[in-house]
Amino acid sequence: MPPSAKSDGPLNGRVALVTGSAKRLGRAVALRLAQEGADVVVHHRSSSAEAQSAVAEIKKLGRRAVAVAADLSKLSEIKRLFEETAKQFGRLDILINSAANFLHTEFEATSEETWDASLDTNLKAPFFCAQAAAPLLKKNHGVIINFADVGGLLGWTGYIPHCVSKAGIIMLTRCLAKELAPEVRVNAIAPGTITMSGDPPELEADYIKRAPLRRSGTPVDIAETVLFLVHAKFVTGQVLVVDGGRTL
Ligand SMILES: NC(=O)c1ccc[n+]([C@@H]2O[C@H](COP(=O)([O-])OP(=O)(O)OC[C@H]3O[C@@H](n4cnc5c(N)ncnc54)[C@H](OP(=O)(O)O)[C@@H]3O)[C@@H](O)[C@H]2O)c1
Repeated sequence: MPPSAKSDGPLNGRVALVTGSAKRLGRAVALRLAQEGADVVVHHRSSSAEAQSAVAEIKKLGRRAVAVAADLSKLSEIKRLFEETAKQFGRLDILINSAANFLHTEFEATSEETWDASLDTNLKAPFFCAQAAAPLLKKNHGVIINFADVGGLLGWTGYIPHCVSKAGIIMLTRCLAKELAPEVRVNAIAPGTITMSGDPPELEADYIKRAPLRRSGTPVDIAETVLFLVHAKFVTGQVLVVDGGRTL
């Protein structure tokens, strides 16, 4: 692929892969990294049209971008995603593990399928993405940012597999930070409720009551935190809780 048309920006020449970046938080993060100069792999599973529109928006910023589809619950597809990244860009500097599901399941009704679906996508996939990315990231002092959730700290009824998967992400972040040091830094973000268009308004109203800062988060809050962690060169193995004080 030819170099980016635009050469300004602190992340110019770097390549970022953001899982689940066709829509919502992942997309906001992908666009923000592109604004900072990065070329981007827009990973998605089923949202192909949205992924193509994210690619078009990134290209308008003068950056290179490709959309790659993969079901991250399957190891073979994870391997293909990183092979395709290496083929298209020849390097990887930033891996953002954002893709996840958010499955509600009452304790008595929780099935093996729901348990596996939560853990496979939310915890197993970020591990194997990190494993597949590590050889590329190590070459350039790269960065991994995992998405946890305040549910991985607080624990919610009706969401045990989800909360366990996100608690696992916190420990995965610490283990990977040690495993991949000193070449690669690994951190996590644990967002509170982030409000986006289409989300039920009662979700935001409930959060405003509970969070000391009296608001829910925005995708910009998360994208700015990602940028902070990308640039924070002495920070590794940490979980940054971005929740308006909800967990205090
Ligand atoms: N939104 C919030 O308020 C909030 C709060 C706390 C934590 N978080 C965390 O922040 C991250 C982003 O949140 P979000 O709300 O933007 O996420 P989301 O909309 O629920 O999911 C993001 C993307 O993940 C992809 N995905 C799901 N299962 C997949 C699989 N098996 N293989 C590949 N891709 C898969 C989907 O891609 P396709 O659409 O292409 O299928 C989806 O668009 C998640 O890790 C989430 O747990 C979010």
